[in-house]
Amino acid sequence: MDFTYTNMLAQLNVASAHPGGFTATKKAWEKLKNFRHDVILDAGCGTGKTLAYLANKTNSQLIGVDQHEAMIKKASQRLQHTSVKLHLANIGSLPFENETIDCIISESVISFNNVRDCLAEYYRVLRPGGTLYIVEITACDTLTFAEQDEINQFYGTQSILTADEWNKLIKQAGFNVIESSPLPATADGQIELEFNDQINSIYIDYLSHHYHLINILQTKLMGQQFFCQKK
Ligand SMILES: C[S@@+](CC[C@H](N)C(=O)[O-])C[C@H]1O[C@@H](n2cnc3c(N)ncnc32)[C@H](O)[C@@H]1O
Repeated sequence: MDFTYTNMLAQLNVASAHPGGFTATKKAWEKLKNFRHDVILDAGCGTGKTLAYLANKTNSQLIGVDQHEAMIKKASQRLQHTSVKLHLANIGSLPFENETIDCIISESVISFNNVRDCLAEYYRVLRPGGTLYIVEITACDTLTFAEQDEINQFYGTQSILTADEWNKLIKQAGFNVIESSPLPATADGQIELEFNDQINSIYIDYLSHHYHLINILQTKLMGQQFFCQKK
């Protein structure tokens, strides 16, 4: 397995690897539960912490998709006593019929991909009036080419957009933005991870480098959440 940021998250079984962390997820659910949510998709579910939380909170049909085999393996271990269905699949080509999902949760996933393509695919599978919750790391102001490049090289992201750029693309994809608000760039408080002597120490260096980057770019990066509704 290559040494990449996403492989590090999988190997260390990192949970809630998104701006605002698990606290933001719990608060988001308090809003999302007020909209129709019979079928909920966690797109890019990682190690499955959000789905495990939802499994305790709702009787909705819960589905997770991730393209990373080790992530799906960790998520299926975490979710083994639940009825959550997991798919090893790409969010750019979701294995669902048109307009079959009520709510999509997408926590720190789209920036790793082509933003327009992901939003178009979310739009396709969501029911009319369906809800989309997006959390992404954002740039406070447009980043220099060197800053973008350093971030993309390390995280494997395709782009780090400003909140305004996100708003524009989300609206262009056919969604109303019901609410958009800032979050801390990193996960809150203590991060949940597992470490054992099988894990290559390079991944610990990766984790340190992540915090180093966030620290040196702390005035330039933040998180942003978007509650959106398909028109
Ligand atoms: C930063 S992690 C976030 C994981 C999880 N949402 C969380 O908050 O902990 C990004 C996740 O998105 C997944 N991912 C990225 N691009 C994807 C794609 N095109 N299709 C499916 N999963 C994708 C990665 O494999 C990884 O698990």
